[in-house]
Amino acid sequence: MDIISTREMLLNAKKNQYAVPAFNIHNLETMQAVLEGAWEMKSPVIIATTPGTVKYAGMDYLAAMAKVGAKRYNIPIALHLDHCPDVDFLKECIYAGYKSVMIDASLKDYEDNIRITKDVVEFAHRYDVTVEAELGVVGGAEDERKVDEKDTMLTDPQVALDFVKKTNIDSLAVAIGTAHGVYKLEPKLDFERLIKMNEMIEVPLVLHGASGVPSDAIKKAVEYGICKVNIATELKLPFAEKIKNYFKENPQANDPRKYITPAKEAAKEVVIEKIKICGSENRA
Ligand code: 13P
Repeated sequence: MDIISTREMLLNAKKNQYAVPAFNIHNLETMQAVLEGAWEMKSPVIIATTPGTVKYAGMDYLAAMAKVGAKRYNIPIALHLDHCPDVDFLKECIYAGYKSVMIDASLKDYEDNIRITKDVVEFAHRYDVTVEAELGVVGGAEDERKVDEKDTMLTDPQVALDFVKKTNIDSLAVAIGTAHGVYKLEPKLDFERLIKMNEMIEVPLVLHGASGVPSDAIKKAVEYGICKVNIATELKLPFAEKIKNYFKENPQANDPRKYITPAKEAAKEVVIEKIKICGSENRA
């Protein structure tokens, strides 16, 4: 198998009421943790890379690694560009082999968000690439995108319907009370809003900022129409923790294979747990 777009995987998820998890990765080992976990669980999976990660690791390296994984594991794997505000950069990723992208013009005003997103959709669809966009504003910090709590804005269902019609996007990231990064207080999700949007909007809905959201709340969100669940922070924390502990116990260590292996295993455990919560086990 080759890497694929998110079209079929998210439509299947919508039809069968589960969600495909999208895990943000940063390097070879975190990608391996995600793919090994997904393979063990026989789950479709989305490897998400922010523009910062793409600049760090290289879009050609990331595409090549994902292709190797898709061939090796023979499960549906998408390589996705997460939260990209830069149209030229997004196009470069498509030329490098990405089949799924998120144009994030959610911080612009509504008309600009529509115009930019629509142009990206027209371009991406020529290459059979799927496009996610965001309406409303999810708070918190992800890469260089930092949104203060006071600037967050929940998605308005009526406006969302208009946005989807005008842009022809393949999936919509909705703001229903989650935020990127670590929560200070347990988030309260606006399920009424989600139910309404799911009734009105045909394209699959996406939940950002899923780290730290209690599993029951994620399960409920999936039941009410979320088809893609984004997880970044909850993979990074145990990965870093294991490396810190390794050096605490082995201050003289210098072999990356030794100190990264437990970190990779910890990330893989999170992948497996999240797949179970999303209900995507045995859906590959
Ligand atoms: P978390 O870091 O809160 O898991 O958010 C991930 C995300 O939404 C990536 O786009």
